[in-house]
Amino acid sequence: MKISEMHLGFLGFGHMAQVIFQAIDHAKLIPRSQVSFIRRDPQKMRENEKTFGITSTSLERLLKTSDLIILGVRPHQAKEVLSQMKGMDPAKMVVTMLSGIHIATYRKYLKNPLVRVMPNTASEVGMGMSVFSYADAPSEVFRSLTHLLFSCMGEVIELPEAMMDISVGISGSGPGFVFRLIEAAAREGEKRGIPYKDALTMAAQTFMGAGKLVLKKGNVQNLLLQIATPNGTTEAGLKKMSELKIDEHYREVISAATKRSKELSEES
Ligand SMILES: NC(=O)c1ccc[n+]([C@@H]2O[C@H](COP(=O)([O-])OP(=O)(O)OC[C@H]3O[C@@H](n4cnc5c(N)ncnc54)[C@H](OP(=O)(O)O)[C@@H]3O)[C@@H](O)[C@H]2O)c1
Repeated sequence: MKISEMHLGFLGFGHMAQVIFQAIDHAKLIPRSQVSFIRRDPQKMRENEKTFGITSTSLERLLKTSDLIILGVRPHQAKEVLSQMKGMDPAKMVVTMLSGIHIATYRKYLKNPLVRVMPNTASEVGMGMSVFSYADAPSEVFRSLTHLLFSCMGEVIELPEAMMDISVGISGSGPGFVFRLIEAAAREGEKRGIPYKDALTMAAQTFMGAGKLVLKKGNVQNLLLQIATPNGTTEAGLKKMSELKIDEHYREVISAATKRSKELSEES
C-alpha cells in the first residue's frame, strides 16, 4: 500500500493527535479527504472540522474505513475505547501513543499490527523524538508506513518496550527539563541587563544549535575538547558544572521521570 492511498483515522483528536495530523498534512503525505477523526465533544468536533479541513465520523465508521488508526485518547480512557475496538478487522494497523499502557493490555483486545509510540512535544516544530516499540516483528509495509508518518515530525528510534520508561525520562518528558534550563539562562541574562526576549532567543538558539552539532558530529567528548580552551570561559563554566555535579543531578532528573512512568504503567 502506498502512503498516499492510505485512509487514516484518529481515535481521539486532542493536542498530540492534532500535532501529528498537522505534520502529516504539511508534508502532504495523505490527502485530507482520506483522513477522519473522532472525539467526544461535538462542539470541538465541528471546530476541528473547520480548522483542519477533515471530517469527523462515528467510531464504527472510523474503524471500518481507516487502514491505519492512531489512538490518541488519555491513558485512563484506554480500556473503554479498547473494548469498543475489540473484534475489529485484524488487518487494520494501529499506532498508539498512550503513555504507560503496555502492549500486553492491547493484546487482550486486539490482534492487529500494533506499535506503541512515545512522541514528544517538539514534534510540533518538526524536531520531535518518537520512540517506537512494535508489538511483534512488523511487516515491511507496516514499518515503512509508520516510519514515514512519524519521520515528518522529527527522528524515529525503535526500542524494545522495556525501554519505554527510560525513553519518557530522556525524550518524552525531556523538553520540559530543557525549558527550565532555557528559562534559567534567559532570566540570568535579564538580571544582567539583556531584554528578556533577546536573552530567551540566545538561550533557546544555543540549546538548539548544540543539539544539532551533537547530532552532526556524534561525539560529545570531542566537542567538549574543542570548545573548552584551557583557562577560558567555557572551561570555567564546565568546572563549575563539575563542582555542582550538574551531570549527576540531571541523571537524577531523568531517573525521577522514568520512575514515575513505571509507576503510572503499573497503576493503569
Ligand atoms: N501531549 C504530549 O506531549 C504527549 C506526549 C507523548 C504521549 N502523549 C499521549 O498522547 C495521548 C493524548 O494526549 P493529549 O495531550 O493529546 O490529550 P488530550 O488533548 O486530552 O486528547 C485526548 C483526546 O481523546 C478524546 N477522547 C477521549 N475519550 C474518547 C472516546 N471514548 N472516544 C473518542 N475520543 C475520545 C478527547 O476528546 P474530547 O476532548 O472531545 O473529550 C481528546 O480529543 C495521551 O495518552 C498521552 O499519554 C502525549
